[in-house]
Amino acid sequence: MIPGFFQGTEMPTAGWWEALWPDPAGVLSKVGMKPGMEVIDLCSGDGWFTLQIAKIARHVIAIDIDAHLLEVARHRLSESGLTNCDYVAGDAYDLTRLRPRSVDLVFLANAFHGVPDRPRLAKSVAAVLKPGGLFAIVNWHECPREKTTILGEPRGPKTELRIGPEETKAVVETSGLKLVQVVEVPPYHYAALFAKTL
Ligand SMILES: C[S@@+](CC[C@H](N)C(=O)[O-])C[C@H]1O[C@@H](n2cnc3c(N)ncnc32)[C@H](O)[C@@H]1O
Repeated sequence: MIPGFFQGTEMPTAGWWEALWPDPAGVLSKVGMKPGMEVIDLCSGDGWFTLQIAKIARHVIAIDIDAHLLEVARHRLSESGLTNCDYVAGDAYDLTRLRPRSVDLVFLANAFHGVPDRPRLAKSVAAVLKPGGLFAIVNWHECPREKTTILGEPRGPKTELRIGPEETKAVVETSGLKLVQVVEVPPYHYAALFAKTL
């Protein structure tokens, strides 16, 4: 296990991620990603969302604690001829050191449930956002794991790790970011969108 690895955030075994996320570009559109943005894909994994971000954004920085997954992502993007991505191995808590310049959007999918000190992470994100910048968190809904079935099997993090929109709002707003919107991301997720208003 990699030191600092967030609990229950391993990339899934092959097959069901693609079934759960058939339209990653649609998710990005829901959270307000626009052409021309500078984006951080935080906890980017093997690049399933990074690829779509790179197709739309001006530039993306994929950050993950697992350097091997970043290599998988690099391969995925290079196969599509995309060169507007930097790959940075490191701990999400160290965001300000990993990314000293500010960005328009920090996108965090399928990882916030496992973060032990969520206010600390939110503060790090707030520090790298431009004024008016957005923090989009895509989270599993707080429902029992046995009910979130994909390809006939229960999937996703343990039930006790899941948090709902209210708890997400409460912890993220300790950083000074403000909740703008919560949108449904069927079948089992929601996206909470925060803005840096100062
Ligand atoms: C379930 S995967 C999701 C990947 C991607 N966001 C997606 O939705 O396809 C969670 C990712 O978080 C990464 N991760 C876990 N702990 C981390 C940490 N402390 N800092 C940065 N990344 C971390 C894991 O290596 C893994 O790739």
